[in-house]
Amino acid sequence: MNRGDLIVRRFGLLFFGSALSFLASILPTVTAHAEYPDRPIKIVVPFAADGPTDVVTRIVAARMEQTLKQKIQIENVTGAGGTTAATLVARAFPDGYTLIAGHMGTHAAAVPLYPKLAYHPLKNFEPVGLLAGTPILILARKDFPAANLKEFISYVKANTDRLNVAHAGVGSVSYSSCELLNSLLKIRPTGVPYPGTGPAMSALIEGQVDYMCDQIVNAVPPIKSGAIKAYSIATPERSASLPDVPTVKEAGLPEFQAQAWNAIFAPKHTPAPIVAKLNAAISEALDDEAVRKRLLDLGSIIPKTPDRTPTALTALVTSEIAKWTPVLKPITN
Ligand code: MLT
Repeated sequence: MNRGDLIVRRFGLLFFGSALSFLASILPTVTAHAEYPDRPIKIVVPFAADGPTDVVTRIVAARMEQTLKQKIQIENVTGAGGTTAATLVARAFPDGYTLIAGHMGTHAAAVPLYPKLAYHPLKNFEPVGLLAGTPILILARKDFPAANLKEFISYVKANTDRLNVAHAGVGSVSYSSCELLNSLLKIRPTGVPYPGTGPAMSALIEGQVDYMCDQIVNAVPPIKSGAIKAYSIATPERSASLPDVPTVKEAGLPEFQAQAWNAIFAPKHTPAPIVAKLNAAISEALDDEAVRKRLLDLGSIIPKTPDRTPTALTALVTSEIAKWTPVLKPITN
């Protein structure tokens, strides 16, 4: 063998060896994606059980289990308006087994509210898919001395120092939307934080707090049973699930427009095939008649097919951060 042949042979062996080790390094990943999920998935809900995020997530996740053929465990991790859980999941291993049910608060409003937020909604997460839109309502304890929104506005303006407003922590939807309402009305009532609007709603029903801005999913059952009062819904249209509740425009406060949403996010660098599998399972759940009925009965808005993609969720988060930053920054700073 001459020197030239030797070089070609050595180079060939080297190339073959590198190719083999490259294949060996990617094979487990490729196989892992193909087999995903081969064990239970955890979705962290950043608020207390029985609140709007918990309810929406459990309805959709139960149907996702059928598609993914795996159990989905819901874990409620509360604190700091949902940002404790979001920080935890942002730092989790990006293998598709730890996800978060984020929302308009954790993945948009928290950005201007926490200058030292330990995560960025887009830089530290892979958006997976939107679960539901959830309009906001202005609610009060059932014996609150106002029959309609105009009377509510006069009363809160005259009694601001004596009023308590319930919320789910700085950064939550209830906090951010009532901050917007209170700034429009130029009032500063006392805020009372809860680990979620599940327990906040119980406090409102029991009359321990005066009013709250909450997502419709949490509000439909107590409004229908007469356990609380609803003054208006902060969307352009009334909700079919609460046809008697006027819109803010009809009730006299058209500038108060607020709609929340709930969505699944995975830690950044979760492999794209895994994100795609999860996204398909969400979309299949949202097309299921039983799931749709449960979500619609609670007043949620089911995203249309083009709005369910990770790209659409990225665009939503981007526009929501842009929308809430100028609203909340001057209020809190
Ligand atoms: C919850 O599930 O408790 C909420 O989504 C609370 C909120 O953000 O207001």
